[in-house]
Amino acid sequence: MGRVSAPPFLKNGVMMKLPDLLLQRRTLIVLLIALGGVGATVWMRGELAAPTTATMPATVDIAQGEQLYGDFCAACHGANLEGQPDWRSPGPDGTLPAPPHDETGHTWHHPDSVLFDYTKLGGKEALAKEGVEFDSAMPSFGEQLSDAEIWNIIAYIKSTWPERQRTAQAERSAAAGR
Ligand code: HEC
Repeated sequence: MGRVSAPPFLKNGVMMKLPDLLLQRRTLIVLLIALGGVGATVWMRGELAAPTTATMPATVDIAQGEQLYGDFCAACHGANLEGQPDWRSPGPDGTLPAPPHDETGHTWHHPDSVLFDYTKLGGKEALAKEGVEFDSAMPSFGEQLSDAEIWNIIAYIKSTWPERQRTAQAERSAAAGR
């Protein structure tokens, strides 16, 4: 009788084990996918956070900033930071002219991080980062200028503002935490 009952036992054993194995493999695959997802999220966050160091460095070279401003920015924003004429009215292509960077413009209304992004990424991409879709004529300088050089230019621009604008802009940068 023992010979007769053995095969069903074995058969049962296989029948029980196969779903078990499938279950294990499935669990493993699900686990791998989940882990992959977490890994990808962390990686993407790192990617997004990495490209900009949007805080003003402790030491800046204002003289170099002034020089670079003359070379890279003055053509549009004016040798004396006065901007282009009628800078509040869009031109024929619908984009705005270059605004002044002196206290008559609105550069001082923005925190450091926005000024940095605007210069490094260009207007369109910087605004896209803030969730705003906008056709901007401000080019990106990330290819031509290092982060340090961009900060030096911004430090130079800021150094030309009267006390009131400087304080207001510093408060905005502090509030933005960047
Ligand atoms: C080809 C012309 C051109 C050059 C060169 C240029 N800009 Fe601009 N910039 C613009 C225009 C046009 C705008 C306004 C576009 C807009 O409204 O988005 C602008 C806007 C900006 C703003 C936003 C200002 C604000 O008040 O909102 C910053 C900051 C800025 N430029 C910095 C710079 C710096 C720094 C340089 C030099 C490294 C530079 N720009 C060179 C055309 C230029």
